[in-house]
Amino acid sequence: MKTCRFCGDNIHEFLDFGKQPIANAFIPPEQVGGDEYFFGMRLAFCPSCFLVQLVEQPSREMMFHENYAYFSSISRYMAEHFRRFALMVMDSYIDDDPLVVEIGSNDGIMLRNFAEAGVPSLGVEPSANVAEAARSRGIETICEFFDKDLAERIRSEKGEADAVLAANVMCHIPYLDSVFEGVTALLKPAGVLIFEDPYWGDILEKTSYDQIYDEHVFYFSLTAVSFLAERYGLEVIDVQPQPVHGGEMRYIIARKGAHKVSGMVEALREKEKRMRMGDLERMREFADSVARSRDDLIRTLTDLKKQGKRVAGYGATSKSTTVINYCGITTDLVEYISDTTPSKQGRFSPGAHIPIKPYEEFAAAYPDVALLFAWNHAEEIMKKERRFMEAGGRWLKYVPKVEIS
Ligand code: SAH
Ligand code: TMP
Ligand code: ZN
Repeated sequence: MKTCRFCGDNIHEFLDFGKQPIANAFIPPEQVGGDEYFFGMRLAFCPSCFLVQLVEQPSREMMFHENYAYFSSISRYMAEHFRRFALMVMDSYIDDDPLVVEIGSNDGIMLRNFAEAGVPSLGVEPSANVAEAARSRGIETICEFFDKDLAERIRSEKGEADAVLAANVMCHIPYLDSVFEGVTALLKPAGVLIFEDPYWGDILEKTSYDQIYDEHVFYFSLTAVSFLAERYGLEVIDVQPQPVHGGEMRYIIARKGAHKVSGMVEALREKEKRMRMGDLERMREFADSVARSRDDLIRTLTDLKKQGKRVAGYGATSKSTTVINYCGITTDLVEYISDTTPSKQGRFSPGAHIPIKPYEEFAAAYPDVALLFAWNHAEEIMKKERRFMEAGGRWLKYVPKVEIS
């Protein structure tokens, strides 16, 4: 029996995705056919602290390095999201002598807003290429992994922080203990930790199993995050659902008693009880839905092929790696994947080796059907792709269910 990465109690495995590659390891042409790393991707539930987690995770250096493929600023919609996030922090959570620290600051998509407003900030970003992009925008960035030791160094060099922010990174870090101890030491007495990640409640409701990939070691709910916070003398003072990345939850956390607790917290706690967030049987039902979704997608792609339709993927997202490898999608079913990120273009998708092509090739000769891997950016994409739809192009989606529209 395996034990929980956080509380050490026994965990229950409930979903096996088989062998999976590193989700963001897009392969250059000269390395196709070479050795590729795979790990057994299995999901487990801890009935003691309610954390859903990967049983096995590749080492952090294999995932986050000088060739990290994900540049946050590729999406204008996300840039706007982080602008509003930063304004909310500046409005509500900083004092006259402020310091804001961001964990996983990537290319500076969030911190640029503090820089523009003249609020001192510091990024912590271990992937050297994206950290460099932030520095070139004038954003001070430490190129290291955040942990307790680094938090203490920051505190002695820069002083205590009003706010520690973390978007789409807390769920990446297996050593939560060190992170929470570090954050607690770094915060001013009334300081706040604000983090947001894909919400396990959304994943359950939408069967959006593609949120599950190597980088995401934890899948948070309020039920689990409250348990976590408690251990460090902290409490969740607010929760704010976010419409990005397919459904996220923002948790605002502070020292116990330092801030008023919003009524939203109790409301979500009650909702999670109704959703059976603490029930292993509910996790097993999810596993069944995932298998059904896979069967539906493969059946649909196979039918399209029989009809002689050309299918291309839209967006070589990290999430697509799980779908492609779990469902067994090959170039036989999906010719190529269109993506706007220069560092992914000309490469091949992890595991299945589907070619990644620049968006211009998609626009120059539309396929019959686009398989929407970037479904979390659907709103932005539908606005851009009127011409594709006018030309008769159709979308194949698989969240919340497999359908062609
Ligand atoms: N916050 C950005 C980037 C999310 S991607 C956004 O929401 O768009 C996750 C980022 O966290 C990557 O850039 C990765 O290099 C970084 N990261 C991974 N582990 C980390 C750790 N232990 N400490 C700090 N950053 C980390
Ligand atoms: P994400 O889902 O992890 O944010 O990644 C989105 C990926 O999709 C990224 O590689 C860029 C790509 N993309 C496009 O190709 N076209 C688009 O219009 C959008 C919004 C994203
Ligand atoms: Zn646990």
